[in-house]
Amino acid sequence: MRALTSTLLILSLLTPSLASINPQRPFDANTSPEPSSSLDDGSVDRYDDQQVWRIDWSGMNDVNKRDIIDAINLLDFDIWHTTRSTIDIRLNPSQLNVLHSFIPSSHFTPFISNLQGLVDLSSDSPYLDQEAEEEEEEDEVLNSKSNITEDLRKKKNKSRKGKKPKSPKEHIDQYNLTTIETPFHDNFHPLKEMYKFGDVLISTFNGTNGIEVEEIDIGTTFEGKSIKGWTVKSHDHNNTKAISKAHNQPESGREKVENRLDDVELEFVVQAGQHGREWVGPSSALYFLHHLILRATTEPTSDAAILLRSIRFTIVPQINPDGYAYSRDKSRMWRKNRQEVGGKGKCLGIDLNSNWGYKWRSSKSTACSEGYAGKEAFEAYETKAMSEYLSGAGERSNRVRAFVDIHSYGQLFMFPFAHSCDDFPPDAEMLMEAGLGVAKAMRTKQGEGYEAGQACDLTYRAPGDAIDYTYGITDVRWSYSAELRDTGTYGFMLPPKLIRPTADELTAGLMYLAKFIYALEVNPP
Ligand SMILES: *[C@@H]1O[C@H](CO)[C@@H](O)[C@H](O)[C@H]1NC(C)=O
Ligand SMILES: *[C@@H]1O[C@H](CO)[C@@H](O)[C@H](O)[C@H]1NC(C)=O
Ligand SMILES: *[C@@H]1O[C@H](CO)[C@@H](O)[C@H](O)[C@H]1NC(C)=O
Ligand SMILES: *[C@@H]1O[C@H](CO)[C@@H](O)[C@H](O)[C@H]1NC(C)=O
Ligand SMILES: *[C@@H]1O[C@H](CO)[C@@H](O)[C@H](O)[C@H]1NC(C)=O
Ligand SMILES: [Zn+2]
Repeated sequence: MRALTSTLLILSLLTPSLASINPQRPFDANTSPEPSSSLDDGSVDRYDDQQVWRIDWSGMNDVNKRDIIDAINLLDFDIWHTTRSTIDIRLNPSQLNVLHSFIPSSHFTPFISNLQGLVDLSSDSPYLDQEAEEEEEEDEVLNSKSNITEDLRKKKNKSRKGKKPKSPKEHIDQYNLTTIETPFHDNFHPLKEMYKFGDVLISTFNGTNGIEVEEIDIGTTFEGKSIKGWTVKSHDHNNTKAISKAHNQPESGREKVENRLDDVELEFVVQAGQHGREWVGPSSALYFLHHLILRATTEPTSDAAILLRSIRFTIVPQINPDGYAYSRDKSRMWRKNRQEVGGKGKCLGIDLNSNWGYKWRSSKSTACSEGYAGKEAFEAYETKAMSEYLSGAGERSNRVRAFVDIHSYGQLFMFPFAHSCDDFPPDAEMLMEAGLGVAKAMRTKQGEGYEAGQACDLTYRAPGDAIDYTYGITDVRWSYSAELRDTGTYGFMLPPKLIRPTADELTAGLMYLAKFIYALEVNPP
């Protein structure tokens, strides 16, 4: 490790000079992995010459690790995942050479050698709404004033008439949400289909056995897409009297609030999709929502039904719709949102999970980096909108008591803080105990290992994390961040056939957590 330390020293001398040559792009455009950052030309990014490498950094101390991270950020290399002992990075051959010049190659293990091959494999086959989408395209042609001959227009119109028009009922049946076996959960979907899934949940289940399902509007993205959530609660909610009682009491500080916990309605919030390329999170969040509603509406004595009498669940499956759409349509590896950030060059986007406002710090990275934290906390439309939703709970006469932020990959279940292990949460012991139970519940499903612990300990320390904000500012006691599958084979490109087992694990974990909270806070022995 001696050699490493000295090369790091060289690097730390080297990097400022690299940066001063060209703060945006230390290397010439040929070595850049990020054609995606440039303006849209309609083509889809390819990753033919790129690989993902796992670097063993277990022998380094925190200072060395920080140097490495700073250097990588400065070079705009794409970090995929960090643990105590390893860091996964996407590199093209010349970037690999740069890293080899300061980290011995014995520390490198190939993680994904055929990146483009995996990108091709993970694309979904649009089985559900293929017809609907074709019709939509035809509509566009038929209704546009584009230059097509009247003949062609008539021909299209005629062939269209031959098709049986689809009734709305048939559409619902295609989703077939009366069973968790619906093929919807065997594929990734565009945002539009995910939102339609939510609509169909409402039309299928709202009002069934006292379960209410509502759509909520979280806000709007930079590109003008809406950020939607779905709230589930039971009609037999038990706290109306308690709330009016609570209103007559003077408010004073955290202790008072703690004491009248059972007087307010509790809310359990699940958010997914901060990072556009992590597709399995949003799909799994919808599966959990579906599971909860199905169980509660069909089985009045189920855990789901009992929990819903005291806890309202809110699922925001896609907090970063712009980034997700961009990852699907243009650049599979896209992580950030798509906001103009006024940087030099054409680079766009803020890393949402570096932009939340608790002990936020600006990062050394430029706007071209996938980890760009923004110029200030809550600069991103999406983090701002969600933070307003979370901090506005009081106005909805309730209290957000649990918040789980879903990511992939790594198979981890983590509690705050992420920014530093010196900032120790007063509830650490309880958070750890519940987290261990969640990880066990997830493991028990399919035998896949999940690890529980503190975020700063299990991953590289980074400020601006969502759970640091929810725990540190909005006072959400049960704040967790989950990394779903996998640990090494596919990374972000998890194939569609693994959505269901992954989502099933998440569901087991979230149900465990909700029951843990219920037993402790709603219905203590
Ligand atoms: C429409 O297309 C024809 C041939 O395909 C072309 O000659 C004509 O200029 C086009 N008209 C417009 C308005 O683009
Ligand atoms: C398509 O056909 C219908 C009747 O079948 C007709 O009313 C309509 O005007 C046609 N539209 C176009 C664009 O030709
Ligand atoms: C929906 O799922 C149920 C249960 O698996 C099945 O019996 C039914 O045929 C399905 N309906 C449609 C329209 O596929
Ligand atoms: C859902 O059902 C409740 C009553 O059970 C009703 O008040 C509400 O308007 C319904 N919401 C929607 C979106 O249909
Ligand atoms: C309402 O709360 C009381 C006391 O907490 C409990 O005994 C009762 O079962 C609850 N009712 C419902 C419908 O959950
Ligand atoms: Zn993530």
